Amino acid sequence: MTKNLYVWVSFTILSTFIKLAKADNYIVHMEPSAMPKAFSNQQSWYLSTLSSVSPKSRAKTNINLPFSKLIYTYNHVIQGFSAVLTPAELEVLKNSQGYVSSVKDRAVKVDTTHSFEFLGLNSGTGAWPVSNFGKDVIIGVIDTGVWPESESFNDNGMSDVPPRWKGACESGTQFNSSLCNKKLIGARSFNKGLIAHNPNITISMNSPRDTEGHGTHTSSTAAGTYVEDASYFGYALGTARGMAPGARVAMYKALWEEGAYTTDIIAAIDQAIDDGVDVLSMSLGLDELELYEDPIAIATFSAIEKNIFVSTSAGNEGPDMETLHNGTPWVLTVAAGTMDRDFGATLNLGGKGSVIGMAQYPGNFSSSEFSIVFMDACGNTTDLRKIKQKIVVCQDPGKEDSLSDQFNKVQVAGNIAGVFITNNSNVDIFVQSPFPAIFLEQKDGDAVVEFIKTNTDPKASIEFKKTILGIKPSPTVTSYTSRGPSYSCPSVLKPDIMAPGDSVLAAWPTNIGAARVNEDLVFSNFNLLSGTSMACPHVSGIAALLKASYPDWSPAAIRSALMTTSDQIDNTGSPIKDIGENLRPANPLAMGAGHVNPNKALDPGLVYDATVQDYVNLLCGLNFTEKQMKTITKSFSNNCSNPSLDLNYPSFIAFFNDRDAKPNSTAVLEFQRTVTNVGDGSSTYRATVSPINGLMVTVEPDVLVFNAKYEKKSFKLSVEGPRQLNEAVSFGYLTWEDSGRKHVVRSPIVATSYEVKK
Ligand SMILES: *[C@@H]1O[C@H](CO)[C@@H](O)[C@H](O)[C@H]1NC(C)=O
Ligand SMILES: *[C@@H]1O[C@H](CO)[C@@H](O)[C@H](O)[C@H]1NC(C)=O
Ligand SMILES: *[C@@H]1O[C@H](CO)[C@@H](O)[C@H](O)[C@H]1NC(C)=O
Ligand SMILES: *[C@@H]1O[C@H](CO)[C@@H](O)[C@H](O)[C@H]1NC(C)=O
Ligand SMILES: *[C@@H]1O[C@H](CO)[C@@H](O)[C@H](O)[C@H]1NC(C)=O
Ligand SMILES: *[C@@H]1O[C@H](CO)[C@@H](O)[C@H](O)[C@H]1NC(C)=O
Ligand SMILES: *[C@@H]1O[C@H](CO)[C@@H](O)[C@H](O)[C@H]1NC(C)=O
Ligand SMILES: *[C@@H]1O[C@H](CO)[C@@H](O)[C@H](O)[C@H]1NC(C)=O
Repeated sequence: MTKNLYVWVSFTILSTFIKLAKADNYIVHMEPSAMPKAFSNQQSWYLSTLSSVSPKSRAKTNINLPFSKLIYTYNHVIQGFSAVLTPAELEVLKNSQGYVSSVKDRAVKVDTTHSFEFLGLNSGTGAWPVSNFGKDVIIGVIDTGVWPESESFNDNGMSDVPPRWKGACESGTQFNSSLCNKKLIGARSFNKGLIAHNPNITISMNSPRDTEGHGTHTSSTAAGTYVEDASYFGYALGTARGMAPGARVAMYKALWEEGAYTTDIIAAIDQAIDDGVDVLSMSLGLDELELYEDPIAIATFSAIEKNIFVSTSAGNEGPDMETLHNGTPWVLTVAAGTMDRDFGATLNLGGKGSVIGMAQYPGNFSSSEFSIVFMDACGNTTDLRKIKQKIVVCQDPGKEDSLSDQFNKVQVAGNIAGVFITNNSNVDIFVQSPFPAIFLEQKDGDAVVEFIKTNTDPKASIEFKKTILGIKPSPTVTSYTSRGPSYSCPSVLKPDIMAPGDSVLAAWPTNIGAARVNEDLVFSNFNLLSGTSMACPHVSGIAALLKASYPDWSPAAIRSALMTTSDQIDNTGSPIKDIGENLRPANPLAMGAGHVNPNKALDPGLVYDATVQDYVNLLCGLNFTEKQMKTITKSFSNNCSNPSLDLNYPSFIAFFNDRDAKPNSTAVLEFQRTVTNVGDGSSTYRATVSPINGLMVTVEPDVLVFNAKYEKKSFKLSVEGPRQLNEAVSFGYLTWEDSGRKHVVRSPIVATSYEVKK
């Protein structure tokens, strides 16, 4: 990441000294109604305000300085602008007419052939044909840019771009506006904030072209078209396609090799709103900020007001609690799970059986037999070097960093291949090895060690590039996916949902190394990446399928449909497990409501809807000041007659964390909810609640009778329990079912003694 840099901003003309002041980018919220009538538009008012905060800049030779202080004027996402300001200038600005609040710009972290089958998407039935593959829905992706030549953005067979689209395909370095088509309908880039941080910066690719690969991967995951024979060096071979192959993509490049800043990201969101996207996909986020300080939360509030669905990634900081970002009540927050697919290699034990281990070595490997030696902990590079021409087997002692140590030693020693016996839960980090490496489970490892010990001159051969389907259990929650509760709004359970994020195959720029073989970069049009960055665009694409089917649904209704129809059971018929918790059943603070199920999401039966006023009521309930409210809602006249932390959300979180509670004293926490019947005609739903250890959960009423489509019914859920819970997290589910179980509408209920740390 680019560090904050010292920028030349104020200097006295008559002096030979050049004064260095530490300036920074700020996002400044203003109240437009305070604009003096003398100004014809907001931009000229902002420029005038800026020039008055640094009077020296009005000296003749610096006439342009206020212009360069202003970075962006925003139209939708905030009322205000971003600018380069010294601390002194900021203090003056705070007393200017119309000033509301400001936050410093921040650096932002960026967090297939198979995932569609795993999610049950099928050309013949279900969400794909019903939604016409997401036809004409426009997904705006805020990311590192795009590689437009990728086959995933081929527009064969696509109809003309809808006339409502106002976006553009911007030319720039190695990017010609004719590179967009009916699939990739827009491409723009935003870097004024980055440049303001570092005026001397050389932008290596000043255009929407992707030089990192991340954006090409995420955008093709959301809406890539069909590409046959896609693979990662032979792994995952098949036809690649995104979640919504009929949808269109618009890329907004705001993440640069040279750095990424919120001023640019919200400018990108501002433009995407203007251009007319239907879904926004953002695999990025900011940690530990209040809603009114988080530019992404603030900007996406405007998107929701315009009925744009926003999907975000939870982050890759798990498995500890309260690590997630984007815990924003109006966006969807996506966790990452595994698929039922693994990549591996077969180790053939000299005609005496074979074992399969995990591997993603991209190189070509000899089919010959080699001597195989067991070196126990593989702790001594000198010893390893002596047996360079052999396959070396290492037993991981299971200590912190022990696998990483062994891996490095074998790599340095240059053995023919390394076989690592390990139970390390982060083995995923190692599998894309630049040298031939296999990772075995203990029981398979024991068999290999036994083979070595009981044979004189044992020999083995290895076949890489194996794709193994039907892995059980799956899905599982990845160890790295960030966990709730939400820092900014603990009363709303986050994350919302889980989607495939592990080893996702998607498009990749042809000229960016996809992997290394020894020291050499190797190239591929598809790459396997893991992270919540990969999970987010899966749901963005699925949301596009819903949007195509139900254009009038609010973002909250789409989110509800996704959540209440998601799966909690894995392919062994057991509750989905959490790799980060030693394979214990995953709790909703790790995976949200469950694993996304697109076909079921298309017919949810009931939805928990929420309006913009519901979010305002929530902000009122958070006791935000008028200015904090205004920063988010862009209005000083918010109706706070109904403050409530109890948002009409398809999930529940109850805090039983009163440290000073008397022994055996109990508390009852109540939640009010309203569900809308989106099924056809009349129906009767009955509630069931799965038992939660030590808690009494009741639903009143527990039968809801609907006589018509779009009818609304309310109920109350009460959770009674000790004021201080023994367990950190207990959970269960509320399920509404209609007769014949045509619709099963399930919500997670979490009870926790966890106290959100601010
Ligand atoms: C863009 O590409 C088209 C077609 O290849 C070409 O005619 C045009 O000159 C290019 N424009 C620029 C600015 O390079
Ligand atoms: C920017 O470049 C100018 C001219 O080359 C140089 O004097 C200045 O020190 C540089 N500033 C920074 C912040 O690197
Ligand atoms: C592996 O072999 C294939 C087919 O011969 C070749 O195209 C590819 O470049 C080789 N890969 C490497 C990393 O040498
Ligand atoms: C590695 O083993 C050799 C003997 O093979 C020994 O001389 C050397 O001290 C060992 N190195 C370490 C770091 O233990
Ligand atoms: C992993 O293996 C080590 C030693 O091989 C063992 O001590 C440890 O308990 C194992 N951990 C798990 C989670 O199975
Ligand atoms: C908001 O203020 C009310 C009244 O002072 C208080 O009861 C409530 O706990 C506060 N809520 C939050 C989220 O701080
Ligand atoms: C505020 O909302 C309530 C309903 O929640 C409504 O009765 C009231 O009229 C609203 N007040 C204003 C000023 O709009
Ligand atoms: C708390 O409840 C337990 C079990 O119901 C009981 O044995 C104990 O005496 C109670 N303690 C107090 C202080 O009431």
